[in-house]
Amino acid sequence: TGLTTLDIGYKNTGSTKSAITFLDGDKGILRYRGYSIEDLAAKSTFLEVTYLLIFGELPTKEQLTKFTSDITKHTLVHEDNKKILDGFPSTSHPMGVLASLFCSLTAFYPESLDPNRSSEGVYLSIVRSLAKMPTFAAWSYKNAVGHPVNYPDNSLDYCSRFLKMMYALPAEHYEVDPVVANALDKLLILHADHEQNCSTSTVRIVGSSKASIYSSISAGINALWGPLHGGANQEVIVMLEAIKQDGGNIEKWINKAKDKNDSFRLMGFGHRVYKNFDPRAKIIKKAADDVLAKLGINDPVLEIAMKLEEIALRDPYFIERKLYPNVDFYSGIIYRALGIPVDMFTVMFAMGRLPGWIAQWKELRENKEPIGRPRQVYVGTQSRAYVDITKR
Ligand code: CMC
Repeated sequence: TGLTTLDIGYKNTGSTKSAITFLDGDKGILRYRGYSIEDLAAKSTFLEVTYLLIFGELPTKEQLTKFTSDITKHTLVHEDNKKILDGFPSTSHPMGVLASLFCSLTAFYPESLDPNRSSEGVYLSIVRSLAKMPTFAAWSYKNAVGHPVNYPDNSLDYCSRFLKMMYALPAEHYEVDPVVANALDKLLILHADHEQNCSTSTVRIVGSSKASIYSSISAGINALWGPLHGGANQEVIVMLEAIKQDGGNIEKWINKAKDKNDSFRLMGFGHRVYKNFDPRAKIIKKAADDVLAKLGINDPVLEIAMKLEEIALRDPYFIERKLYPNVDFYSGIIYRALGIPVDMFTVMFAMGRLPGWIAQWKELRENKEPIGRPRQVYVGTQSRAYVDITKR
């Protein structure tokens, strides 16, 4: 075949050169465009980080004002999206709804299908993606609860606008709690990019065929949905709840995760790249403490999470395999405290990861990368003669 390497799961294969995110899994370092995740989470805002990831530099005040106002102008989605939404049963998972609505942007903006689009055109698609994502995300929730959708309130900032669209009921006066909006903003920063993870690689490979930005991102949303990737944040809470129901028997669940005859894994533990600690998990753990204290919430599931972490980190199975809590371990606890329902957790992750997907799609395009096309080692039956159906 002429194939020289086989690397199932791409554990040790670089797929591209990228100037966006630096990650050192042994030292637990994560930087966006050279800025540490700790600094950005403490000092920046989600839209500022979005600008940084996509355009390479922190924006000046003027640049940020223009970028924010460009996004704000495009928060409305075409009214026909409501018809698409109505076609989904209320039992639909919001991630499926979100991916479909996002992909429908190719139909509403067919000019995005042109692979030779001008940079102004690409900028417009980027702004539209960022503007419409929270609207679609909130609408995917409204569909699940059977409530009428809310339109974006453009007097609010990005996160507050999303929260109001998600929670406000008809004819209700709804005030966004700034503690909730700020915590959400921080969570989105932590999720904003993570180099060539499964969903980002998906965006890049789809984009490499010169597919539109909207279909590339929709593919990324679908990749993120899986329980081994973004879907893990939902699974963490499901697991913690199950342990609670089981009388808090943590040891039993840890043993289940260690049992090679049982497919159960400790959700929120382990990472393909971080083999020391996940720096995002550290920040999130502290943020979870802050949010719970500020909102006066006493969540018994948090206690189970902390005990589980403590016991697992002392266990030789997890030590030998370098399995530490990842970003998803504590993010679900904050989302719960913010009142976000469990099947919306991965949608929150998608909102956060959107700037990363956009930046990576744009980089791929600007670098004129060739189509992504991995090879394989064929292990099937060798050449054989066709047998007529009457003789089989
Ligand atoms: N619980 C129990 N055992 C585990 C776990 C876990 N969470 N994670 C890995 N292992 C074991 C695994 O069974 C294997 O053991 P052995 O060497 O005896 O066969 C060893 O550790 C190495 O695991 P791997 O599956 O080869 O590692 P990977 O790099 O392919 O997988 C992972 C990384 C994140 C998919 C995996 O650790 C996992 O399934 N974790 C649980 C799901 C999760 O929390 N995902 C979120 C990841 S972070 C955010 C994101 O990417 O979206």
